[in-house]
Amino acid sequence: MIYINQLSQHENKSVTLKGWVYNNRSSKSLIFIELRDGTGICQCVVSKADVDGRVWEDAGLLRQESSLEVSGKVVKDDRSIGGYELHVTGLEIVQIADEYPITPKEHGVEFLMENRHLWLRSQRQWAAMRVRNAIVFAIHTFFQNREFLQLDAPIFTGNAAEGTTTLFETDYFEEKAYLTQSGQLYAEAMAMAHGRVYTFGPTFRAEKSKTRRHLTEFWMIEPEMAYYDLDMNMDLAEEMIKSILSEVLSKCRNELEILERDTTYLKQAIKNDFHRITYTNAVDILKSRKTAGVLEKMTEERDQEKQDLNNELEEIGKERGSEKKWRKAQIDQRVKEIYARLDQVKEDLRNIPVWEKSVSEFKWGNDFGGSDETILTMQFDAPVIIHRYPAEVKAFYMKRDPADEKLALAMDVLAPEGYGEIIGGSQREDSLSVLKKRIEEHNLPEDAFKWYLDLRRYGTVPHSGYGLGLERTVSWICGLSHVRETIPFPRMLGRLTP
Ligand code: 4AD
Ligand code: MG
Repeated sequence: MIYINQLSQHENKSVTLKGWVYNNRSSKSLIFIELRDGTGICQCVVSKADVDGRVWEDAGLLRQESSLEVSGKVVKDDRSIGGYELHVTGLEIVQIADEYPITPKEHGVEFLMENRHLWLRSQRQWAAMRVRNAIVFAIHTFFQNREFLQLDAPIFTGNAAEGTTTLFETDYFEEKAYLTQSGQLYAEAMAMAHGRVYTFGPTFRAEKSKTRRHLTEFWMIEPEMAYYDLDMNMDLAEEMIKSILSEVLSKCRNELEILERDTTYLKQAIKNDFHRITYTNAVDILKSRKTAGVLEKMTEERDQEKQDLNNELEEIGKERGSEKKWRKAQIDQRVKEIYARLDQVKEDLRNIPVWEKSVSEFKWGNDFGGSDETILTMQFDAPVIIHRYPAEVKAFYMKRDPADEKLALAMDVLAPEGYGEIIGGSQREDSLSVLKKRIEEHNLPEDAFKWYLDLRRYGTVPHSGYGLGLERTVSWICGLSHVRETIPFPRMLGRLTP
């Protein structure tokens, strides 16, 4: 079997492709079928003069998403998607599809989410999933090349890892169990056996927040390293992200183009050192005159853009009714673009006062919210690593900074362009007595952590690790505005199907 992304190896030869109709249009003597086969899209041209009557008739029956096999000659054509077309000689219908619910016209996002099982076939969704796959592969390559072991943590657990408020509870043969929030505690045990390990698995958080960054089920990559301190931990995170970006930029050029991703910041993130600032520093930046200026400038720019877009709409409106057919298609496309951009602009304008309020109310000691992270990252040209957070807002297992006991040796990596946190990590508390004290302070049941405390009893060592959220990473690299498009079947507040 030949796939569309291999057509360049078959120029001027006859091949058979198997796939689905992505789009089709016809004239008196020609039918154009945009065929997709999972690897790409190829324009297949059926010419009435060149095929027998049966093939011409069948080609005329095709509807969007009908399945079929097409044979023909591969012809180079630079204007065609993918650079090649198929001049059809034969065609076998597998099924004429029912009227397909997702048409090339605009659909609301709720409708698309209800039809996620079909939406996955659309170009942008297809491209995002391929980037996700490339990221996964790049992560494994990165760690495997460094001789980290990939080992799995359990999904049913008896205790909380990241605070008790977001636990999904379930019944485990009349015992209470929880879906894991993080594989970290188990990764720590495995690191004491193997030195350097990483888990790669689904994690669950009963997040009641309906935001563009929160899922209730997401995938996390959690490396854990014996004898690593916080600085080594940050170095590894930075190297890993650079390595993921290089791989994706070289392998997914076509996908990023389909997603219309401006890759400037991604390239900068590979080239530049990540910024490393302390939490206290970050708070100063947030409260500074510079931040206020950034928001003022953004308001002015968005206001102007809104006005320009509305003017353009008005101009286009005057043309309506009298335009030629080709011009109408052009106008429809442009109007669609304008409305999409207007939505974004209006959302920004709604957000700016929310961000301003968040910044003005922010006090040292608070954890950064999504808005604060967005504003911080807008001021940097590369990812930012914020380290040494107030221990109060962080998890029980984090080691305190010997230089200032109020601070935890924690670090978060924030992606630029407003994306915010993609990694959370820390050096771990390695003293038995201190860890016991922390468990007590956090009102956690010491019993459930007995095995975890053993790691500090039998050959405890300094160690560190972090968790990378896969969906947030996909969202940033693809330039998507919501994590719901970064996983085949998202689970989030109010969404359990399909
Ligand atoms: O910062 P978090 O909560 O850290 C941990 O779970 C640590 N145990 C990790 C470790 O040190 N081994 O989560 C890590 C990352 C976040 O930075 C974010 O990218 C992602 O997981 N994440 C979510 N992604 C989607 N939806 C959610 N509700 C998420 N919560 C966290
Ligand atoms: Mg975090």
